Amino acid sequence: MFDTPLIILGSSRRKSDTRNFAGHVFKGTQHTLLDLLEHPMAYYDYEGIYPASDSFEQVRKLMLEHNILVFATPVYWYSMSALMKNLFDRFTDLVTIEKQSGRKLKGKKVFLLAVGTDEELPAGFEIPFKRTAEYLGMSYEGFIYFSVKTSLDQKQNIDSRISFLEKINASTKE
Ligand SMILES: Cc1cc2nc3c(=O)[nH]c(=O)nc-3n(C[C@H](O)[C@H](O)[C@H](O)COP(=O)(O)O)c2cc1C
Repeated sequence: MFDTPLIILGSSRRKSDTRNFAGHVFKGTQHTLLDLLEHPMAYYDYEGIYPASDSFEQVRKLMLEHNILVFATPVYWYSMSALMKNLFDRFTDLVTIEKQSGRKLKGKKVFLLAVGTDEELPAGFEIPFKRTAEYLGMSYEGFIYFSVKTSLDQKQNIDSRISFLEKINASTKE
């Protein structure tokens, strides 16, 4: 089990602002990055029937190996990206056909990293992260938001990076 964060990236492009910001935040720290674009996943299926090429199994395995999960998403239409939402829908498998795995999520720490153009994270953006984490027995520990209209060396961005990393660090000691 790793105490280093698993960053799950949900941008719709490879060279993305969200990837860049995650890279900046976690620069010089140990972490694992998983790009959902490289792990194509079918939409949630009520019958649990998925193509052989479905990557949820790999993502699930990596999630179970890490204590700290950072969901990194751009803001698309005031919500998480569709790639990220698809992963969240697939969590349903963990409380239905894969209950044993679902139980192993208990106690994990969940963080949110979001990037958008607006000045602030939209109201309510955190709710699906917080409530889904709670539903699955994990604890939601907070977010960092970067507006691409600002610069990384602005005081507010420097301070929020420090406090975000401190929270992550503290969560490894609990
Ligand atoms: C489909 C789409 C919807 C967007 N909706 C929002 C939005 O609601 N609020 C916002 O602040 N930015 C919005 N943006 C801007 C992106 O969040 C912003 O450009 C971000 O830096 C993109 O990150 P990425 O390169 O990781 O995709 C949207 C961009 C796209 C492509």
